[in-house]
Amino acid sequence: MNPLNHVAIIMDGNGRWGLKKHNSRNKGHRAGIDTVEKIIKISLEQKIKYLTLFAFSTENWKRPKTEINYLFSLLENFLEKKLIKFDKNNIKLKIIGKKNFSYKLNNLLIKSEKKTLKNSKLQVNLALNYGSKKEIVNTIKKLNKKKIKVTEQNITKNLYTKNIPDPDILIRTGNTNRLSNFLLWQVSYTEIFFLKKLWPDFEKKDFIKILNKYKKIKRNFGEI
Ligand code: FPP
Repeated sequence: MNPLNHVAIIMDGNGRWGLKKHNSRNKGHRAGIDTVEKIIKISLEQKIKYLTLFAFSTENWKRPKTEINYLFSLLENFLEKKLIKFDKNNIKLKIIGKKNFSYKLNNLLIKSEKKTLKNSKLQVNLALNYGSKKEIVNTIKKLNKKKIKVTEQNITKNLYTKNIPDPDILIRTGNTNRLSNFLLWQVSYTEIFFLKKLWPDFEKKDFIKILNKYKKIKRNFGEI
């Protein structure tokens, strides 16, 4: 059976779910938060060490301002309400992406990372204002500036995900089979699962089914 350390998720389909059920994309995002909580809980139960969630991409800035503001208010609310619970459950929170949000949100993110820094049961990486191509380019620029040789190893060691093993599993909900500039470097040998279900409908049984399927895959990393 394959060991399982890291699950990454593209939580797609909130907007469509909200429009279909309540004629409001934002209601879909609100429902998406409940799924986030559920999946964190199951990750703890399943002894997963790293869970990386794509919450806001560098391309998502193109959305209407009202939707962007709503997403950030949800995130603020979520962190303000859940930080103590996270800490109690030995969860470490890490932001991957450039923190250039409001003064209030930036501070809240920094505070959440600091408060949970020493926790070790589960690390939840929130990808916020994250874009994989930018991450790679910035890393190469950084290496050049420091006169460090550009090698695979040195790039890996200088990405936002330094010290985090590559994802074993990548899940994308929402019936779209693409990677959308998410962890392009890190998913070279990741097992990818595309699901038709929209993120608010993603359930424990869907998650467990994927984990079980993954465990039986023959992963050969280019060998035979
Ligand atoms: C994709 O659905 C979802 C997002 C861009 C945002 C995901 C954010 C959350 C679940 C809430 C905030 C996160 C946390 C961790 C507190 P979409 O809007 O692209 O859906 P669509 O494809 O149906 O339009």
